[in-house]
Amino acid sequence: MKTAIHALRAIALALLLTFVGALQPVAAQPAPNPTAQSVKEDQLLQALKPGDTLSGRISIPDAKAANLIQPEGQAWRTFHQGSLPTIAGVAILGMTALLALFFLVRGRIRIDKGFSGRTVTRFAGFDRFIHWVTAGSFIVLALSGLNLSFGKTLILPLFGDATFSTLAGLGKLAHNYLAFPFMAGVALMLVVWVKDNIPTRLDLDWIKAGGGIFAKGVHPPAKRFNAGQKGIFWIVVLGGLVMSASGWHLLFPFTDGHNVVDQQFWVNLHAVLAMVFIAVMLAHAYIGSVGMEGAFDAMGSGEVDENWAHEHHSLWLEEQKKLRAKAPANALPAE
Ligand code: HEM
Repeated sequence: MKTAIHALRAIALALLLTFVGALQPVAAQPAPNPTAQSVKEDQLLQALKPGDTLSGRISIPDAKAANLIQPEGQAWRTFHQGSLPTIAGVAILGMTALLALFFLVRGRIRIDKGFSGRTVTRFAGFDRFIHWVTAGSFIVLALSGLNLSFGKTLILPLFGDATFSTLAGLGKLAHNYLAFPFMAGVALMLVVWVKDNIPTRLDLDWIKAGGGIFAKGVHPPAKRFNAGQKGIFWIVVLGGLVMSASGWHLLFPFTDGHNVVDQQFWVNLHAVLAMVFIAVMLAHAYIGSVGMEGAFDAMGSGEVDENWAHEHHSLWLEEQKKLRAKAPANALPAE
């Protein structure tokens, strides 16, 4: 009897303990961390060496889509968000400040003898057409390119999403399509103007005299293009060539077996050269308009004042006068 009572007590006790145990809140088991065993991104990045990519298996034809992580991508982003704005700031804002300072100190370069009222043809219609097709497309390319690089930081906060995305969309279209008239314009400039842009000893003397730009009354002799203009010409031709080649790889990416690292190289080259190109063209536009009296006429009407030509291109003016003297009375001037 006693045993049975003990057994019953034990069962009751066990049941009680189980019941009480069941009432006890189960101690919070740490939720299983599904990524505990997985590798952290930075671990991956450390493990990957330049040139490596972490890629998975995919079934779509575009093999590039298999790439998950590419270490150079970090370096590329750091360059674009860090160095590029600095390069742009120094080049473009630096040049603007320099031109403003030059204008304040030197002022507008005047024609010392004033306008003579007689003109000579400096650039014929076709020259001016080439110039303004190249210049016009360059200006739109520069503005839309700057918007692609810095629009999100500079324009978006000012104008808001809607305006910015419209601008960016139109800018990208203009950038893609105006690249072609720009490339054609640079090629035509090369063909039409190269003969007058070959460096000569005269250019050295011009450079030594500072081109007569820094001091009043100094006018070193020059033919059609002086050393400064020849510099602009070769920057436009060679810079235009590299901008076109790098731009071509951005218009038609991953062609010729190029991979993402190549594309990053073309973007960086295109962006950095663009900033320097814009800075140089700012100086050219300055001296070709507000910076020098009588200069704009050369690309405006094409007719420049004889005194202007005498002070800036004296040897070229002599050549024109000889040509004019040789030409029969009713012939139009060659240039
Ligand atoms: C608003 C901007 C611009 C203005 C006001 C301007 C003005 C001028 C003027 C007045 C000349 C004739 C200078 C002379 O008598 O020899 C000239 C020449 C020239 N321009 Fe422009 N230009 C501008 C933009 C550009 C751009 C964007 C490019 C190329 C991307 C360019 C390329 C050239 C070249 C190669 C020459 C001949 C070489 C020289 O004279 O420097 N120009 N420009």
